[in-house]
Order: sequence, then C-alpha cells, then structure tokens
Amino acid sequence: MRSFRAFAPSNIALVKYMGKLDPERNLPANPSISMTLSALRTHAELEELPAASASEWRAELPAGAGASAKVPTLKPAGAQRVLGHLERIRAELPALLAPFASLGLGARLDQPFFALKSANTFPAASGIASSASSFAAVTLAGAQALCSDPDAFAREWKSRPELRRALARLARQGSGSACRSFEGPFVLWEGESAAPIPSALPALSHFAVVIASTEKSVSSSEAHHRVRTSPLWNGRPERAAARVSELSRAIAQGDLSSVSRIAWQEMWEMHSLFHTSEESFSYFAPGTTEVLAWLAPQLADSANPFVATLDAGPNVHLIVESRNREEWYARLRERFPLFEILQDSPGLGAELV
Ligand code: DP6
Repeated sequence: MRSFRAFAPSNIALVKYMGKLDPERNLPANPSISMTLSALRTHAELEELPAASASEWRAELPAGAGASAKVPTLKPAGAQRVLGHLERIRAELPALLAPFASLGLGARLDQPFFALKSANTFPAASGIASSASSFAAVTLAGAQALCSDPDAFAREWKSRPELRRALARLARQGSGSACRSFEGPFVLWEGESAAPIPSALPALSHFAVVIASTEKSVSSSEAHHRVRTSPLWNGRPERAAARVSELSRAIAQGDLSSVSRIAWQEMWEMHSLFHTSEESFSYFAPGTTEVLAWLAPQLADSANPFVATLDAGPNVHLIVESRNREEWYARLRERFPLFEILQDSPGLGAELV
C-alpha cells in the first residue's frame, strides 16, 4: 500500500494573528507576519488502508521522521480535529486542483481512507505549539495522497507557488497559523492570502527558551474569541495592520532594530489583551517574567539588535543575528541553567518527503 509523507516547520509570529473575522474558515481579524522555522517541525504520513470505511489516527512514528521525533498524545477531540481536516482536504481538492488540470492534476477517483501518523521534532513537553506545523504537514501529505497523479503533484509542487498558496488556504481552515508554514523565511498573511515577503535582514538564528510545558488552560481558539471582550480590543485590528505595514518595510530594508521594537510592542499588546479579557487569562509563568526582565534593558543596545516574542504560551522566542549565536547561547545557558533551550534557524516551509 502506498504511503505519502510530508513535513512542515513551525512558525513564530512577529505581528500576531489574534481574533477571527470568520471562525468557521479561520479568517483573521488582522494581517500578521511570521518567520518560518526549519528544524522545529512536524512529520506526517498517510498510509492507504485497503478496505476501510473511515480514516484513523495512529499513535505511531511516521516513516522518515527520525528516531528522536515524538508522537504526540492526542485526545479524542484532537484526533477528530485532524481527521476532520483530512475529510476537508478530500472535499475541497477537486476545486483546488481544477486550475492545474492541464498539468495532469485532479482528484483521485477511488478515494481511499488512510491511517494518519504524525510526530514533532520538538519535545512533546516543550510547550511549542504544534497546530501550525501539523495542519500544514497533513494538508500537504493529504493533497498528494488524494491526487490522481502523486508523482506529477510532487513535480509541480516544487515549482508552482500558486499550488503552495492554494494549499496554504486549505491548511488555514484547519488551523489559521498553518497557512504561514508553506513558505519562508518571512510570510505575510492577510485574509485568504499567505505569501513570502522580501527580506534584507542579516543571517538569523532562533532560540526558544522553554520555561514551562504544562498544557494550556485556554486554547488559542478560545483566546481568539475571548480577546474581543477586552477594553483594549478597540482599535486592535487597525493597530496590528499598521504594524504589519511598518514591519514589512523594516524587513525589506534589513532594519533589525525596527523589527525588534515592533515585535516587542506587539507581544506585549497581545498578552495585555489576554490579561484584560473577561474573563482574563494569562500564559505567563514566573520564568517568563524573569527572562523578559533580563532581556528588556538589552533591547536598548542598538549595536546588537535582537527580537524577543512570546506565542500563546510561557516560552520566550529569540531571534538573533547568526554571528552572535554562540555568544547568546552561552549567556542564556549561564543565566537560565534550568530552562531547556531549543535552537533553530529561518526556513522555507513545508516539503514532501
Ligand atoms: C498566538 O493558529 O493556533 O500563535 O486558527 O484557532 O487554530 P486557530 O489558532 P492558531 O492561533 C495562533 C495564535 C498565535 C499568534 C500567531 O501565530 O499569529
């Protein structure tokens, strides 16, 4: 039986997707910009099931994931969410591939079911969100698996940005931020469209300071809903849109100091929305404040700009110039010996395996 494999990296937003215009289709209240990662990724495999009447989630390591990848423990609702997405891919693929019919791409006629396996290269307990990378990887493997000519799909996928972007739109319906994991290193998502933007930034490295790994008490889907009750929500989509314009200019001009300032303000704004929602919630752990307080005065050193941000979680993400990577790592290790530090670099997005 044939099996289909893909991986997709995680991405870290600098201007955040927070609040939805249309929760059914994950259309965002504001545009966002993220940096695609590389080694922190999800591997997915779909194995055709000969005589099955439904697809199923299997807690097994996908082929090609590497022995150190970790299979997540999905609750029934989590497994249902990703299997539901597989059915969405099946339903939407004929229309999605229609513009590519002259290349020999169409939907399969036999419509088999699959065993779905996935694993993350980041530790299960690292608190790194995996919904972006998982929904992107499953969308890519699923589209190839349900395409009439998987080999032609693999060829065309490499060279056709329109195909990547159509798949990003499909992945977004599974989890919004997944649409930013198809390309890189910097991706602008606005409405239906997610596409890379030009960058003149120097070579960059990424650290995730893993502060706590407890399961989120408020899911990011719930956060999107609750932030609208904050008094700070007023004007939020407009402020985020203005930041997106300013940030895309700073990235294009290679102005890391401005990127740093915009990302810092944006991170505080998103967490302030959380802290002032009704009912309010927080992802901060004591270590989060400790690391942010250590970083804050260093932001003033204009000779060595760096970016610090948080997702909907307690871990601190840092983006530094690669020429300073070793020094940063040594300083972080020395100052925070108890926190795990994951290292990565900017990447170019999802790939078939
Ligand atoms: C805080 O993409 O996880 O990471 O669309 O409901 O799946 P759903 O939400 P999700 O939201 C991510 C929010 C964020 C900010 C960001 O990545 O832009």
